[in-house]
Amino acid sequence: MPRIRVEVDGVPYDDDVEPRLLLVHYLRDRLGKVGTPVGCDTTNCGACTVLMEGLSVKSCSVPAVQADERQVTTVEGLGMNGTPHPMQQAFHEAHALQCGYCTPGMIMAAIDLLRENPDPSDEEIREGLEGNLCRCTGYQNIVRAVRAAADEMRRQPEREVAP
Ligand code: FES
Ligand code: FES
Repeated sequence: MPRIRVEVDGVPYDDDVEPRLLLVHYLRDRLGKVGTPVGCDTTNCGACTVLMEGLSVKSCSVPAVQADERQVTTVEGLGMNGTPHPMQQAFHEAHALQCGYCTPGMIMAAIDLLRENPDPSDEEIREGLEGNLCRCTGYQNIVRAVRAAADEMRRQPEREVAP
């Protein structure tokens, strides 16, 4: 069985994993990172999105072995010393969630979107998040939240995303 060394939310892990074990199941079932949900079995909802080496990936579409020697950040690794990440804060303030099922993935995808484009237009936000589905909000407040987080993050550009 392959052995992986992976850093998740700032903590190193060394584990034997089945070659076909998906990253989302490794995170949830082995590490207890249940803040990353599974929302579909077709890899199209985006609820399971995490950052690998800072880039967003759908963790239900990546074998855990691909995380070997890499750094993974889940929604549980955001924020510092009890202070929420600006994206988490913005989602809260803009009421950008209802049931919350899509929210962890939406937040991680939005952070990656701002890494690529720190000042996106509403249209660019909608385009950038089109791989993440929300059944509840109609997206308007999500777009508002991402715009607010973008403003905040440009004000404090030194802030690190990863723990
Ligand atoms: S659970 Fe991964 S895309 Fe839906
Ligand atoms: S808040 Fe319910 S799916 Fe997005």
